Amino acid sequence: MNRILVTGGAGFIGSNLVRQLQEDEPQAVILVIDDLRVGDWSNLCSEDASGWSFRGQIIPRALNDLDLFGVIEDFDPEVVFHLASITDTTVADQNKMLVDNVEPFEVLLDAAAELGIKLVWASSAATYGTHANGAVQQRRPFRLDDAGRPANIYGFSKWVMENMARQTLADSPESHVVGLRYFNVFGPGEQSKGRMASMIYQLAQQMLDGKRPRIFNPGEHARDHVHVRDVVGATLAAAGDKVRMGTYNVGTGKATNFNEVVAALNEALGTSLEPDYFENPFKFYQDYTCADLSQTRSGLRWSPKVETRAGILEYARQLASKPRNAAAQG
Ligand SMILES: NC(=O)c1ccc[n+]([C@@H]2O[C@H](COP(=O)([O-])OP(=O)(O)OC[C@H]3O[C@@H](n4cnc5c(N)ncnc54)[C@H](O)[C@@H]3O)[C@@H](O)[C@H]2O)c1
Repeated sequence: MNRILVTGGAGFIGSNLVRQLQEDEPQAVILVIDDLRVGDWSNLCSEDASGWSFRGQIIPRALNDLDLFGVIEDFDPEVVFHLASITDTTVADQNKMLVDNVEPFEVLLDAAAELGIKLVWASSAATYGTHANGAVQQRRPFRLDDAGRPANIYGFSKWVMENMARQTLADSPESHVVGLRYFNVFGPGEQSKGRMASMIYQLAQQMLDGKRPRIFNPGEHARDHVHVRDVVGATLAAAGDKVRMGTYNVGTGKATNFNEVVAALNEALGTSLEPDYFENPFKFYQDYTCADLSQTRSGLRWSPKVETRAGILEYARQLASKPRNAAAQG
């Protein structure tokens, strides 16, 4: 890959992806489009000894405010990794969610079909909703065709994007368009998301402050918590030549409940803080998520490498090793 466009490249997953791309493809020119509404420049340059420093270019504008097709034609990338999106799942402005998330995607699909550019894009486990075709109640992994029952406008926006991607592949079967339903991602670089950062990050921050971790009673809500390193790996795999086009789950294939998360955090931080349980006030809450990875393994040719508990231990120790005021910023 010589020319790579990453939308949302200053965000959590995007900046981890850019960092890996820069390592894997040192000769490549990387262009980030990110208006920094959530993302932060500091995700692209670190002060620490790792010496990570972005060497690419950035267009700090909203996708909708650009002649996006023109930018792509001019830059002429081999691959577009499309991660920019409203990621605040509590945003209730339906029009804004669809205008921001769906409209630029149409342009990207046109570019994939007309210019032959590979398009890898972020869908979400939010397309499964709170029921997931009964998978939540049965506590079984979510199969691809369980989706399409989103419980909020964010999930609906991603579902509509999946419909559009399916149509593009039907109309232009030569196109390279791969969507990835990320599950619950955690890891370095998510501090810029604030209250939208993962529960693992939020709970670690509470515990590093010496507070008891606050979780919903009785702590058995379970999520497929996937480390960002694995998410980056899956995203890169989706640009491979042998991949079957379509949409895939990206998770660990295992649900870990919040009592288990707290136990791992206590172990990593050397604390013994008991959960501070409270009643779940949300009607529409995904209290169970788990990715079925059978299609991911065969079509995307990718499998997770980071076991959730080990990933939590590693991440919590990283957060704890930072000076406290810096850890609060990430
Ligand atoms: N983190 C997760 O657990 C998770 C789960 C499922 C799906 N996803 C998807 O993965 C992608 C990346 O998510 P993230 O967790 O890194 O979130 P993030 O908010 O950190 O990253 C999104 C980035 O896009 C930018 N952005 C948003 N809208 C934009 C626009 N219209 N124009 C230009 N820039 C814009 C933001 O400034 C931000 O830097 C998103 O598409 C998200 O929906 C994430």
